[in-house]
Amino acid sequence: MYLGIDLGTSGVKIVLLDAQHRVLATSSAALSVQRPRSLWSEQHPADWWAATNAAMQILAETLAKSHPQALATVKTIGLSGQMHGAVLVDTANQVLRPAMLWNDGRSGEQCAALASALPTLQDTTGNLAMPGFTAPKVLWVKQFETAIFERTDCILLPKDWLRLMMTGERVSDMSDASGTLWLDVGKRRWSTEVLAACGLTESHMPRLVEGNFVAARLSADVAAQWSVPANIPVAGGAGDNAATAIGMGSVQPNIGFVSLGTSGVIFLTCDQFRPNPKAAIHAFCHALPSLWHQMSVMLNAGSSLVWATQLLGLSHEADLLQLAASLSPEEQTDAPLFLPYLGGERTPHNNPNAQGVLFGLTHAHSSAAVAYAVVEGVSFGLLDGWMAMNTDNDKVKALSLVGGGSRSAWWAQLLASTLNVRLHTHAESDFTGALGAARLAWLTDGGEISQVCIEPVRLQTYEPDPSQTQRLMPRYARFGRLYPALKQEFN
Ligand code: XUL
Repeated sequence: MYLGIDLGTSGVKIVLLDAQHRVLATSSAALSVQRPRSLWSEQHPADWWAATNAAMQILAETLAKSHPQALATVKTIGLSGQMHGAVLVDTANQVLRPAMLWNDGRSGEQCAALASALPTLQDTTGNLAMPGFTAPKVLWVKQFETAIFERTDCILLPKDWLRLMMTGERVSDMSDASGTLWLDVGKRRWSTEVLAACGLTESHMPRLVEGNFVAARLSADVAAQWSVPANIPVAGGAGDNAATAIGMGSVQPNIGFVSLGTSGVIFLTCDQFRPNPKAAIHAFCHALPSLWHQMSVMLNAGSSLVWATQLLGLSHEADLLQLAASLSPEEQTDAPLFLPYLGGERTPHNNPNAQGVLFGLTHAHSSAAVAYAVVEGVSFGLLDGWMAMNTDNDKVKALSLVGGGSRSAWWAQLLASTLNVRLHTHAESDFTGALGAARLAWLTDGGEISQVCIEPVRLQTYEPDPSQTQRLMPRYARFGRLYPALKQEFN
């Protein structure tokens, strides 16, 4: 048995997997985000730990009926997590302030300062300095919370802080470490040069391992609490996107996925380091040695739907999608346009100050038209990312569609036509990060990559519909003209 724990933004998800690719049980526990000021996005690590323990408790209760011995036979554990978040701890491993998350946009000025202080930054890291990354957040702490910066002994990513709680050890993996902006991504090691530019040294960083290597061992206390064997290995694991790729079998060049979570991601595996910072594309290490990946990241995918669901007084995003789907093709052509920049944007604009826009409203527009605009606007944001990746479309035969949003057949079809690419959905598509984490655990236990990292069974395939694509493209062209026209108005 292999346990995969995924620390997401909206909750912790856990999967128990056996060596026949069977998911024996899943569980989850919700988390909320605090936004105490404009551009800020934080969570308390203590809440992550409470949610992890709650999800483990639910998993144990589920298994008590169906597989009472399963937890006692867990051989290894893998971790996946929301990327980029900064957890600052002191010499006693005490957390010094709330974690600043991947969608926290406060550090725009620190990004500019770092980029000008270190002209080689993009060459070393392969990435543009963006406020979502860890380094600029810590520069913000250095400037505005100097006493906390001075007490900081180690900076951990979210899932690596969970590992610290589970094992007492400070360890990260290459894929997640890529999102700090302190990693030499091509060489897969910390960059002393970038660290020095932030007033840090390698001693502030966790030890690095590859995602499928053993990172540390589970402490006796936690093992007893979770009813799993003590001292079992905890794999390096991965940032949630690389973990999802492992879960989807995206381990060959040009195989990838579209993820509709809180963020919206398009991910492609590469057999070499392929930076493209000018287009605000992320070029990171994959969770397996000698592999890298590229991805476009939009900040407000699922979160735009959550926002619109609340705004329209609906109770669930599924209701919003149903309302959007009720619009006729003619009404869709006349619907308003939505720029999904509620909390700034990364790919392609790299602008933490970008704002959401509903454009072209008239007396005729119903709540369904607004619902449609929001879903379409998120889809157009993903298309912007896909265009920025500038991929040779002939090489990408299809993409997997994962995340909560992939449950809507209507949206899946709209996306296939928007991106003009075939999309496959799979079972457990809400738990892909946790599945990938469990698979990385399996690899540390001697599993073969070719046997473990396979594509899960497909549920549905969505082909682009040329007539739908034709209807959407004039609207996409208009969408594309709005951001440059409004850019100077965002503050
Ligand atoms: C990736 C990113 C997000 C988070 C969401 O760069 O910021 O996808 O990992 O959990």
